[in-house]
Amino acid sequence: MIIVGNLKMNQTLEEASIYESKLTNSGIIICPSFPYLPIYKQNGYELCAQNVSEYNDGPYTGDVSASQLKSLKVKYVLIGHSERRHVYKEAQESLNNKVLKSLKQGMQVVYCIGETYEQKQNNQTFQTIENQILSLFNIIDNNDINKIIIGYEPVWAISDGINPGATPTNQEIDEVNKYITELVKEKYNQNIKILYGGSVNLNNIEQLVKLNNNAGFLIGGASKNVEDLLKIQEICKQ
Ligand code: 13P
Repeated sequence: MIIVGNLKMNQTLEEASIYESKLTNSGIIICPSFPYLPIYKQNGYELCAQNVSEYNDGPYTGDVSASQLKSLKVKYVLIGHSERRHVYKEAQESLNNKVLKSLKQGMQVVYCIGETYEQKQNNQTFQTIENQILSLFNIIDNNDINKIIIGYEPVWAISDGINPGATPTNQEIDEVNKYITELVKEKYNQNIKILYGGSVNLNNIEQLVKLNNNAGFLIGGASKNVEDLLKIQEICKQ
């Protein structure tokens, strides 16, 4: 199973060094803040960036380009994360540009999608997810679809940094995973990998590990504690 630890905007330099020493090449894909990528790189961890610029290198103060990430041996990039879509109001067009730049550099994309609580209440879950997938998949080369991993993260299930979000039932996630799998097969004739994310932790992992069509997990809050992250991975291996 693919386990991605999304550390979000956490850790100091010192904390990153301690965390890194405990991660011990476990095969977990680690997603630290940009300044700490080289710390994790030195011991050969699988790296995922939390974001990437939609532009090529040049006068874009504060941005980090796909080629810069590539030079750090970053293998994956998170694009379309709920916090980027909703806090930073990133538009679909710029997400698409980010994906294109990342693919051009040979990186794989974890493309995050998910419905808000309001969309769920209005029975718009499948429509939302379909729109998010088609808006990207219609503009990329069909041969590149196998370089995309879907991160299904219902917005209402993601923790706010203090409190965990609600956990969907396995049935709810299974239905979405089935929908995505069939959509991508039908429209693009490709098999797609899906990760689940949203308050995955030691209390719910034994249940979530039974999901269908699930290739692994995107773990936010619970990944801040390296011991918990390693325990979650152990449970996924059983
Ligand atoms: P939490 O696990 O903190 O809910 O975050 C999930 C997430 O956003 C992973 O990308």
